[in-house]
Amino acid sequence: MSVETITTQPFKDQKPGTSGLRKKVKVFETPNYLENFVQCIFDTQHEQPDAPLVVGGDGRYYNRQAIQKILRIAAANGCTRVILGQGGILSTPAASNLIRQHNARGGIILSASHNPGGPDEDFGIKFNTPNGGPAPEKVTEAIYTATLHINRYHTLDEPDIDLDTLGQVLVGDMEVDIVDSVSAYADLMERLFDFDQIRALFQSGFRMRFDAMHAVTGPYAREILENRLGAPVGTVVNGVPLEDFGGGHPDPNLVYAKELADYLFGPDAPDFGAASDGDGDRNMVLGRHFFVTPSDSLALLAANAALAPGYNGNISGIARSMPTSQAADRVAAKLGLPCYETPTGWKFFGNLLDAGKITLCGEESFGTGSDHVREKDGLWAVLFWLNILAARRQSVAEIVREHWRIYGRNYYTRHDYEAVDSTAANELVDTLRSASATLPGQQLGSYTVDYADDFRYLDPVDASVSANQGIRIGFKDGSRIVYRLSGTGTQGATLRVYIEAYEPDPAKHDLDTQQALAELIDIANRLAGIRERTGREAPTVIT
Ligand code: G1P
Ligand code: ZN
Repeated sequence: MSVETITTQPFKDQKPGTSGLRKKVKVFETPNYLENFVQCIFDTQHEQPDAPLVVGGDGRYYNRQAIQKILRIAAANGCTRVILGQGGILSTPAASNLIRQHNARGGIILSASHNPGGPDEDFGIKFNTPNGGPAPEKVTEAIYTATLHINRYHTLDEPDIDLDTLGQVLVGDMEVDIVDSVSAYADLMERLFDFDQIRALFQSGFRMRFDAMHAVTGPYAREILENRLGAPVGTVVNGVPLEDFGGGHPDPNLVYAKELADYLFGPDAPDFGAASDGDGDRNMVLGRHFFVTPSDSLALLAANAALAPGYNGNISGIARSMPTSQAADRVAAKLGLPCYETPTGWKFFGNLLDAGKITLCGEESFGTGSDHVREKDGLWAVLFWLNILAARRQSVAEIVREHWRIYGRNYYTRHDYEAVDSTAANELVDTLRSASATLPGQQLGSYTVDYADDFRYLDPVDASVSANQGIRIGFKDGSRIVYRLSGTGTQGATLRVYIEAYEPDPAKHDLDTQQALAELIDIANRLAGIRERTGREAPTVIT
């Protein structure tokens, strides 16, 4: 094996965000750009060096080229074994599962999640640690610091390998095990959920559509839903992963998964609909003529966890990100379980999951998951829902309404103002932060402010503190307004305003969400001076 050492120079813009390093493909194609970042992973991550490394991605444009380079760099850096998804494909949760199952030294996952793919679109790379989860800040910081000083990387003068044939190949002295991308993940799902019961549900004529959005979950959904659970062929649509996701935006929400939403709200609607994103970690769930908010979904999975064999009697606690609605808190309280409020971003759940403090967790941004892996998991959420539907034999709408009758309804919406001027957005938040001290006790319309602060998280496991995580304004009746700036936007700033009202009265559970929240929305707009500061008359996106 002849290792080549190539002289290189730092790029200075390789700071990984909450979900890794994300840039346009064109940037990744710059000579040495990907190589530098990968070398910095090997220069800084020395845990379990003899354990295998898991590698795979969501199949977007540049996935294959990136993997060939990563394999050569890994071998040149003394990595002994790589576990690679066939064709370079691994969904993010499937990669997390493989890392855990193989006690790996970590994983390199190639994805830009729900961002569009293609030669002019986005690509991304991230390192997951041996627990299977996204690298914590101290790890991403170490990698970033290394990228600022790098002056060489190691690689091999070796040809590309065939990524598509299962089995073992050598890259230099390094073994590469090309494994079926789906089977280990599907087996895990089969251990968590009652597949017999779900199979019986499909046999009874239950109809669903799963929209894979031409992203990574297609092969997973086909194997699990159609092959193992007997759903009719054609249940999975847009099931072939494409390098550009068919030109679409692989984000499962009512805007980008419109085709699915229209079908579920149309005359021929099936019983159940679901979609997942580019790399398979997000999920959207719909019933016939019914949209389930991700916040409600988390609460409902928790309330019904006893119906799934993998969770029956095994829930230690629940966590939700701060802006996620407080519906899950009510379930936790009723079940006598601890409930944690964490900053936005999946990585904050990792410590709680590793410490066994929680079993279920979720975010309002279409992310739900559990301790089965260390990433959110789209298909897992869909199967959890199917398990509940199979056990209860009620419609999605009936199940959610019954949940509201028991726990009350948390009306919830998110208003996004995208690509606003960064200075204006920061000033808006700074002003709210300064004003927050004076708000408690104030009457705003029919709402009395209970507390107002800039959310500060004290991690109960490692005592680390994350400050300035968003402005929370809580009202006496349990309603809330939250303001925060996105950490994933690529243009200017994105202001997110989250509005929530608690309604215990079942007679008022069928209002239109925007109408039910109209007064709070108005308060939120005026309190922050959104129109004056951003020049925007209306949000870019309402969820
Ligand atoms: C968004 C979501 C957040 C999620 C993140 C990564 O981050 O709001 O819940 O964890 O994407 O998928 P934001 O842009 O709000 O910082
Ligand atoms: Zn994703």
